[in-house]
Amino acid sequence: MTAPSQPLFDPFTLGPLDLPNRLVMAPMTRRRAADGKLPTALMAQYYAQRASAGLIVSESIEVDPLSGLTAPTRPGLFNGKQQSAWRQVTDAVHAAGGRIFAQLSHMGRGAHSSQLESGGRVVGPSAIAATGSIYTATVPLPYEVPHALSEDEIAAIVAQYGEAARLAKDAGFDGVELHGANGYLIDQFLRDASNQRDDRYGGSAERRARFLLDIIAAAKAHWPGQKIGVRVSPTNNFQGMSDSDPVAHYGVIATLLDREGLAYLHLVEPATQPEGLPQVAPTIRQAFTGPLILAAKYDLVSAQAVLAEGRADLVAFGELFLANPDLPERLKRGAPLNPADKATFYTEGERGYTDYPFLV
Ligand SMILES: Cc1cc2nc3c(=O)[nH]c(=O)nc-3n(C[C@H](O)[C@H](O)[C@H](O)COP(=O)(O)O)c2cc1C
Repeated sequence: MTAPSQPLFDPFTLGPLDLPNRLVMAPMTRRRAADGKLPTALMAQYYAQRASAGLIVSESIEVDPLSGLTAPTRPGLFNGKQQSAWRQVTDAVHAAGGRIFAQLSHMGRGAHSSQLESGGRVVGPSAIAATGSIYTATVPLPYEVPHALSEDEIAAIVAQYGEAARLAKDAGFDGVELHGANGYLIDQFLRDASNQRDDRYGGSAERRARFLLDIIAAAKAHWPGQKIGVRVSPTNNFQGMSDSDPVAHYGVIATLLDREGLAYLHLVEPATQPEGLPQVAPTIRQAFTGPLILAAKYDLVSAQAVLAEGRADLVAFGELFLANPDLPERLKRGAPLNPADKATFYTEGERGYTDYPFLV
């Protein structure tokens, strides 16, 4: 009998980066930034603890100082102070032997006017509110109907992404991931339930992808394509997101992205979809010839299976990495895993953040 294949622990070449394994730490918002949306020494420690990942993708980082904001404790990357503060994170990860991409994001219609700076407004591709409520400083409030962005306003946000990409480079990140998943602004443009525009940013999948492609072009002013990743979630229904034909539409979007020479496409889709949701990964795998990362509910067995079957090149782990700073070593040894404490996902300080134990 041959031993089962263990591709998760094989090295991988991601553009110019040599990854020691195929485990990615998934982007996870932890809301521990200081006033001014500044990363802290504690955040540097948290990421450095997890440097044995093949690649770390940072928590989502806000690019728009006025309209893209949520909780004040989510970090930003729109000024020089934030850029210098991120340097302590990237230096700590590099000193520990790791690699880290910055996940750049804009909340779009997921923001709330009570959280925005003066002059900011809740924006989106179309005047269609997200479903559900948002936790504001006081009580949960229903999402608001966003202002439908004009083409000039779209161009201004694209420029903000470009500026954040420049700051990310100066802050020492190894690359940037554009957050096109989970109901954020790029996702709002990509999917047809939230984008009902009839100009060049809406109508067909090609046109809905234009906003993302414009942002990629802005990021390319500062980074080679090989250091730009994109995250998408074609079937995730967070905040009432949906699409009438995710397989066909994301086949088109993946074909367009394939021409961009990107570092990777990062797809949020579990190995087995819940009843009623299609599996989009096989279509994307065919259309997009660069590295593919899969994320959502993977464990050692399902990760090894998707890699061994060639369905992906890398697998991202969220909660498992949050709770196990030495996840690659634990999985390799078959060691027990720390359970994640959901109560401290978004609280302050080191509890449930930097105090998860390492193997002894
Ligand atoms: C605490 C927490 C925060 C998250 N924040 C983000 C985020 O900032 N950006 C993002 O793209 N996904 C975010 N996610 C989703 C994860 O990246 C991942 O896709 C999800 O947890 C499913 O993977 P898992 O089952 O391995 O945890 C978050 C997940 C968790 C648990």
